[in-house]
Amino acid sequence: MSNALSIDELSVSYGPIPALKNVSIEVPNGGFVSVLGANGAGKTTLVRTISGVLYLQKGKRTSGSIKFGGEDISKLKSRSIVRGGIAHVPEGRMLFPHLTVDENLRCGAASRRDTSGISETLSEVFDLFPQLPPLQHQQAGLLSGGEQQMVAVGRALMAKPSLLICDELSLGLAPLIVRDLFLLLDRINQEGVAVLAIEQNARIALRHSKYAYALEVGEVVLEGPSAELRENQEVQDLYMGGGGDIREAYTAIRREVNR
Ligand SMILES: Nc1ncnc2c1ncn2[C@@H]1O[C@H](COP(=O)(O)OP(=O)(O)O)[C@@H](O)[C@H]1O
Ligand SMILES: [Mg+2]
Repeated sequence: MSNALSIDELSVSYGPIPALKNVSIEVPNGGFVSVLGANGAGKTTLVRTISGVLYLQKGKRTSGSIKFGGEDISKLKSRSIVRGGIAHVPEGRMLFPHLTVDENLRCGAASRRDTSGISETLSEVFDLFPQLPPLQHQQAGLLSGGEQQMVAVGRALMAKPSLLICDELSLGLAPLIVRDLFLLLDRINQEGVAVLAIEQNARIALRHSKYAYALEVGEVVLEGPSAELRENQEVQDLYMGGGGDIREAYTAIRREVNR
């Protein structure tokens, strides 16, 4: 069965404020796609909408469709979406800091009906992150940022997804840690799980994904094979040249003008 994600002409608003405008994005079955964009571009809004948690922020899909494996998932509850095979690692990780690593990981399996398979998945996650077994009885809030991000990825994998969405995996982490996390995404992807990496860090995202989209003030302004975008001068200037502050100011101005 195909488990492609197909987003077509999606628009989303928070009250009167538009956050996404006619966004169309495809993640093929088993693919590795990234969505790049500066702060405020609408990346997290996209993740919330796919995952069915937009309503928690009083956001609303005003048009467009989201299909997964050919099925319209835009009206499903988040639990059904997870059961259907889409798990996401939220921006800022959102672990329960006072629960142990083991407990946090098991939370990711809350939507599973095959309770007997949960321990097996847990040992698969521990195989993938050999740093975690010695930490499994530690409080998650006491771990380093990189370790916490591993727990967050592991928690999503506990749902046994066919599509893993990561919102800003790289945020606040040292480059070497980010590199290791993306190497793990490669491995997860090679094992057949499709990956959608939402990233401000264009350099790392373009190195690992096969296809990428750039989001600016809620709109897709550029898309193409990641290898081509890496060579693209505009992408280099806008997304890989540092200059993040200028870029953010520019985005803020564009947003004001569009209102
Ligand atoms: N809960 C919310 N209520 C109102 N506006 C929001 C909310 N969340 C995000 N926005 C607005 O939507 C736009 C996109 O935000 P977001 O999706 O968080 O972008 P990104 O993840 O790319 O930084 C921004 O202008 C932001 O201020
Ligand atoms: Mg965000």
